[in-house]
Amino acid sequence: MSRRKIIAGNWKMNKTPSEAVELINTLKPLVASDAADVVFCVPAIDIIPAVEAVKGTKIAIGAENMYFEEKGAYTGEISPSMLTDAGVSYVILGHSERRQYFKETDEDVNAKVRKAFEHKLTPIICVGESLKQREQGVTIDFIRQQVKIAFSGIESENAAAAVIAYEPIWAIGTGKVATTDQAQEVCHAIRACISELYDESTAEKIRIQYGGSVSASSAAELFSQPDIDGGLVGGASLKTDFGSIVNY
Ligand code: 13P
Repeated sequence: MSRRKIIAGNWKMNKTPSEAVELINTLKPLVASDAADVVFCVPAIDIIPAVEAVKGTKIAIGAENMYFEEKGAYTGEISPSMLTDAGVSYVILGHSERRQYFKETDEDVNAKVRKAFEHKLTPIICVGESLKQREQGVTIDFIRQQVKIAFSGIESENAAAAVIAYEPIWAIGTGKVATTDQAQEVCHAIRACISELYDESTAEKIRIQYGGSVSASSAAELFSQPDIDGGLVGGASLKTDFGSIVNY
């Protein structure tokens, strides 16, 4: 079966609300594609103007994080229903920067994935090894563990609709993109892990992105690999290059 490609920008902590609208207006004509789903994952404060700015296009707006409680005394956090009410359809969960700087654990990520599905948000679940882990030869073991915990308690029909982003930490923001073979190998292992956890049909449906220094020049080769269904793009998603990536 052929899976629809999904190309998402992760803006990280960039762009004020007015800058966000300006960037979306610049990118809008460049990312129009019938061949792929296009998502802009923007800072929380940019969500409302971003949803407004993409009206009339097929671009979806995603959040970069979310808390796993419904509401209450969690100063500074954003709830799932705040996102859905604002018009968000995707949410990045477990990005390595959140795991590293904000001490998010695999269990936190799992709680967030569960909540996202309860609210019909599509999670983009990030996994990825450090350089040390790659050198130690434990990449696949580590990623399988991240995937297994993230999907704990998730039913197969939800799992099939999820997006997983394989982002080797050493490739993020470094300009050091994984080789096509490295990216394909891990994305294939992730799909095999989903097949073990659920079944082949779920594994065939789930979409797996590669992320880490994706550029206009590396996108085509990466995205044409059998197990790579698109990309999660950081730096290049803030530039007109994102148009070339979407239309690789
Ligand atoms: P870069 O594309 O800037 O390397 O960032 C990748 C990333 O972390 C996307 O989530």
